[in-house]
Amino acid sequence: MLVSAAEMLKKAKAGHYAVGQFNINNLEWTKSILATAQECNSPVILGVSEGAGKYMGGYKAVVGMVNGLLEEMNITVPVALHLDHGSYDHCYKCIEAGFSSVMFDGSHYPIEENVAKTKELVAVCHEKGLSIEAEVGSIGGEEDGVVGMGECADPNECKMVADLGVDFLAAGIGNIHGKYPANWKGLSFETLDAIQQLTGDMPLVLHGGTGIPTEMIQKAISLGVAKINVNTECQLAFAKATREYIEAGKDLEGKGFDPRKLLAPGAAAIKATVKEKMEIFGSVNKA
Ligand code: 13P
Repeated sequence: MLVSAAEMLKKAKAGHYAVGQFNINNLEWTKSILATAQECNSPVILGVSEGAGKYMGGYKAVVGMVNGLLEEMNITVPVALHLDHGSYDHCYKCIEAGFSSVMFDGSHYPIEENVAKTKELVAVCHEKGLSIEAEVGSIGGEEDGVVGMGECADPNECKMVADLGVDFLAAGIGNIHGKYPANWKGLSFETLDAIQQLTGDMPLVLHGGTGIPTEMIQKAISLGVAKINVNTECQLAFAKATREYIEAGKDLEGKGFDPRKLLAPGAAAIKATVKEKMEIFGSVNKA
């Protein structure tokens, strides 16, 4: 059964580790992540962007697929199904479809409007037992057509949004989605420290988990980050393994063109990537 992410992230923050949010794009992705979480005895959050939700046939199709896999694969570790960077309307669609968690990305609204909409969604989510993430200070880079400018969040705004009752908070600290440019200045630990001092026990979320050096990840966890989002790294691993398989000509030999065989190396590459991240984040054996 899907669970809200509130409890697992509270435990993670108190235990000084982070739970990975791995975004899903299809059945292979989802199976790989769930199997790895079970093998690692780790809690996990399946992230779904609006674009990926549409690609997979809609939010109800995603909920059906994930719930079916939880049962058929005998998954016993805590799993949350979370809308990633949701708009106001799509938060409602996911609540209705059976997600167990949503992120309302109101970072592009003026702060007053972000606050009003967040408050309303917090009440609806909590009434229905879902967890809710909010964002302050947009995360840079591009993800699914959503372009953020990459700024450091204002710690006072973070405190204000945290006080609205959200379960976890994404704050921009110089992180960006996708690959980091060569001249990237790194994460702003000063900002993170100031945010954590004002928001206390609130689990903080680090978006743009791809390509952040391990030491920076660990320092961020020590300063209150309890959820780390990873998407591009799984995409790269999947694409690379699939390309190698095709370039080796295996897809044309024997039954190699069978999609179950064609997509198997990519699925294995995702498993390896997720396992490595769970080890770095410290969530292994924390289910
Ligand atoms: P990356 O694509 O950089 O891993 O970021 C993922 C993310 O933050 C999803 O919200």
